[in-house]
Amino acid sequence: MSKKPFYITTPIYYPSGNPHIGHCYTTVACDSIARFKRMQGYDVMFLTGTDEHGLKIEQKAAEKGVTPKEFVDGIVEKFKNLWKYMNIDYDRYIRTTDDYHIDTVQKIFKSLYDKGYIYKGEYSGKYCTPCESFWTDSQLDENGCCPECHRPVAFAKEEAYFFKMSSFAERIEKLLTETDYLRPKTRALELVNNFIKPGLEDLCVSRTTFKWGVPVSFDEGHVVYVWIDALSNYISALGYMNDAYNDYDKFWPADVHMVAKDIMRFHAIIWPAILMALDIPLPKHLAVHGWITFNGEKMSKSLGNVVDPFILGERYGCDAIRYHILREMALGADSSFSNEIMINRINSDLANGLGNLVARTVTMADKYFGGTLPSDREADPLDENFKSVVLNAFAETEKAMEETKIKQALEEIFKAVDRANKYIDETEPWKLGKDEIKKNRLASVLYNLLDAIRIISALLSPFMPVVMPKIWEQIGASENDVTYDKLSVFGVLPKNVTVHKGEILFPRIDVDKEIEELNNIIQKNMAEAKSNLSSEEKGEIAEKIELAPEISIDDFAKIEIRVAKIKSAEKVKKSDKLLCLQLDDGMGGRQVVSGIAQYYSPEDLIGKKIQLIANLKPVKLRGVESLGMICAADTPDGIKVVFVDDSIPVGSKIR
Ligand code: MSP
Repeated sequence: MSKKPFYITTPIYYPSGNPHIGHCYTTVACDSIARFKRMQGYDVMFLTGTDEHGLKIEQKAAEKGVTPKEFVDGIVEKFKNLWKYMNIDYDRYIRTTDDYHIDTVQKIFKSLYDKGYIYKGEYSGKYCTPCESFWTDSQLDENGCCPECHRPVAFAKEEAYFFKMSSFAERIEKLLTETDYLRPKTRALELVNNFIKPGLEDLCVSRTTFKWGVPVSFDEGHVVYVWIDALSNYISALGYMNDAYNDYDKFWPADVHMVAKDIMRFHAIIWPAILMALDIPLPKHLAVHGWITFNGEKMSKSLGNVVDPFILGERYGCDAIRYHILREMALGADSSFSNEIMINRINSDLANGLGNLVARTVTMADKYFGGTLPSDREADPLDENFKSVVLNAFAETEKAMEETKIKQALEEIFKAVDRANKYIDETEPWKLGKDEIKKNRLASVLYNLLDAIRIISALLSPFMPVVMPKIWEQIGASENDVTYDKLSVFGVLPKNVTVHKGEILFPRIDVDKEIEELNNIIQKNMAEAKSNLSSEEKGEIAEKIELAPEISIDDFAKIEIRVAKIKSAEKVKKSDKLLCLQLDDGMGGRQVVSGIAQYYSPEDLIGKKIQLIANLKPVKLRGVESLGMICAADTPDGIKVVFVDDSIPVGSKIR
């Protein structure tokens, strides 16, 4: 019987700077899903790659005095090295500079043009050069600047091709609201309200302002919009409209595209519209996760707040890093990366939980039976509950993985780890070992533990592919004992199984010492990042830190800044930008309207503490009363709310 196909993709990354742990999340998540599916017997195609065209790359290469291709070649190597280091077992790697891909993009563009879905027009509007985006007046921020990077925009006019997005609005709305294409579904409403309800505008899909892109084959001087180029990778890599590969019929439609929230819109609206226009099936699922943030900021190389995954991997092993990022991130929400949380998690789950379970069990089998369990056994009704918890973990993990809920899958598996450790406490093997007539019972207990470890470690192997085979070696499990069909039953290990005591799987980490060392590394990184900024970036920062005229302490004292907690948040009707927040301000509560809707969903905010300018004159924004303002920072990545440590009580005065 031929295996069922399963196709999963990461976004293709911009090779504009070195990869960091933020990039790792999607790739590690997809790798784990791909490995899980392979274990289940699927024929898997796991695709990743790099998105190498566009103005930013052209500019960075020029700054370095190399060609764009030379520039990206160096960084692509770094991405590939990182994936190798993190044990990413991808099946195919696409570069948008590959000839076959360029050829396919040209054919796709021409085919959409021939079908009448792409037409030539003229674009005039406000253009943001760094973001390569035209914006309509209503999309600009409060200062009339780019809504993404908040830099000034300039009026520009150019001949351009447009894609008739508007023809697909109704079908896309249905896709988002009536199917489970988008996971989590809660994000669908946000897209429909922000982009579809206000009227889906036709999309400008060609540029004449730079050269580093796929040329429009029938109109010299135009290059294809980077997102059309990039999104097409998911089908060109299978051989759609090209002869480089021959897997399109087998693997398309994709089972899962996984992306972070900032590029959800492109995958939830533009990509389905292109596929509809090409008249080919839509992917089955789009799984959207949040960002890994560091001290509340999206990780970014230019800020230097990046923890180098190579350094972390060297210190704690790449399996531990993989486990930590997967265990922290729930689908849809952001997850904050902290060295302290990571180290504590490695210590509690991996060193104390799993590592200890294996070490204790193997050591006892060694101590009491010289490593090989005898055949005589004595069961106890107590065993049944233990086994049922382990088997239930298998069933729940399978279910969670079906829904791409990796965090949940890991939680389920660790319930079995905890239960196994508890089983040791309940059965007290060290007491059984002292009494010759209880040896049969002891053999049963240890066998059950070893067999539970077999199931647990096999379930964990897609997530931690290096250490789990070491566990199999220690518990005497052969490759045949850990196949997927054997994970829903006990009694698989040989009756007289022989254990092999081995190295400590996850050494305990000295929390204080490590945190201090990691903080030193980060300080150094940040200083380096600052000195490596391009002249343009330095200029921007210098421009930003030009101060307003001095004020006296009395002037400052006029401003009442208080700590408040966000109780609820909802979008202000007919506004893309405004959120209406209900605050607990320690003074009976109040309502504040804030222009942060493009950067935060209500669920990102509820329960968080913020700084409130409490004595600002009330105003009405879009007809909604705002009694004060919350503090936020302008950053190159957009507006960031300044959150306050949870230990500071609501109502506290900030000075
Ligand atoms: N080239 C586009 C994707 C085209 S897909 C057809 C792109 N590239 S990117 O390199 O900027 O980002 C790739 C992915 O990495 C995005 O999903 C982005 O959100 C994700 N991440 C980058 N930094 C991240 C974090 N700190 N945390 C989680 N994901 C992050 O967008």
